[in-house]
Amino acid sequence: MDGEGLRPLTPKYTNMAKSSWFILVELLLLLECLSHLSISQGQGYDFFYFVQQWPGSYCDTRKACCYPTTGKPAANFTIHGLWPNYNNGSYPSNCNPNSPYNATKISDLLGKMEVDWPTLACPTNGGTRFWTHEWEKHGTCSESVLDQHSYFEAALNIKNKVNLLKVLEDAGIQPNDQFYREPQIREAIKAGIGYTPAITCNTDSSKNRQILEIYLCVDASGKDLIECPKFPTRCKKPPLQFPIF
Ligand SMILES: *[C@@H]1O[C@H](CO)[C@@H](O)[C@H](O)[C@H]1NC(C)=O
Ligand SMILES: *[C@@H]1O[C@H](CO)[C@@H](O)[C@H](O)[C@H]1NC(C)=O
Ligand SMILES: *[C@@H]1O[C@H](CO)[C@@H](O)[C@H](O)[C@H]1NC(C)=O
Repeated sequence: MDGEGLRPLTPKYTNMAKSSWFILVELLLLLECLSHLSISQGQGYDFFYFVQQWPGSYCDTRKACCYPTTGKPAANFTIHGLWPNYNNGSYPSNCNPNSPYNATKISDLLGKMEVDWPTLACPTNGGTRFWTHEWEKHGTCSESVLDQHSYFEAALNIKNKVNLLKVLEDAGIQPNDQFYREPQIREAIKAGIGYTPAITCNTDSSKNRQILEIYLCVDASGKDLIECPKFPTRCKKPPLQFPIF
C-alpha cells in the first residue's frame, strides 16, 4: 500500500501548488467582491420573461379550470406573468416579504387586468389570489425598477403591443383544434412581432400536446421586447394542437 505514488510531493512541486492555491483563493475573493458590487449597483435581475397563456389549453386538461367571477374570458391569449430572470436561466423569487400585494395601489388598472390577466384557477375567484402570487413571487424582485403600479402597468402595456392571436391568425394558425408544427408557430410570431418566442405546451386528456404558453423577453426596464438571452425548455415535437376556447 505504501507505493511510490503515495509519497509526499517534492518540495518544489509543493511550493508551486501552494502559490497557485493562494492565487486561486485571491481570484475567488476578487470575483466575490465584483459580483456583490454588480448586484448592489444593478437591479438584481437581467431581463423579464413576459408569459402569455392560451386559456383553451389551460382549461383543456384533466385538471379543471374555473372562469373568473367576471365571466368567461375572451378567446384570446392572456397574461400569466412578467418574470424577472437571470441570463443564466435561473431567477430570483419572493424578494421582499415586506411588500404585500395591495389592490389599492393598482385600482385604476383592475378593470384592464380582469380582461388581460384573468385567473382561471379554481375555485372561481376575482383574480386577487393570482395577482398576489405574481406580485409577491416575481414582482417584488424587480421592485427597484418597477413599483407595484408600474409593474402591473408594464405587463398590460406589453400585452397591448403584442397581439399574438392576430399574428398567428394572419399566418393561418387558428384556435380551431388543428395541429401546427412548432417552427411554424415560432416563425409566424417572429415574422409578426420581430422577436423569437418560446412555446411551451401541456397535454390534454386525450394525450394531445397543445400550445400552452408563449414566452417573449423584455429588457430590464420592463418596456421593450428583446431577443431572449436564454430560452425556457421549449416544446418542439410533436405538432401542437391549438384548441378552441
Ligand atoms: C445565476 O446568476 C445569478 C446572478 O448573477 C446568481 O445569483 C445565481 O447563483 C446564478 N445561478 C446559477 C445556477 O448559475
Ligand atoms: C395600500 O396602499 C395604499 C395606497 O398606497 C395605502 O394607503 C395603504 O396603507 C396600503 N395598505 C396596506 C395594507 O399596506
Ligand atoms: C386580444 O388581445 C390583444 C392585445 O394583446 C388585443 O389587441 C386584441 O384586441 C384582443 N383580441 C380579442 C379578439 O379580444
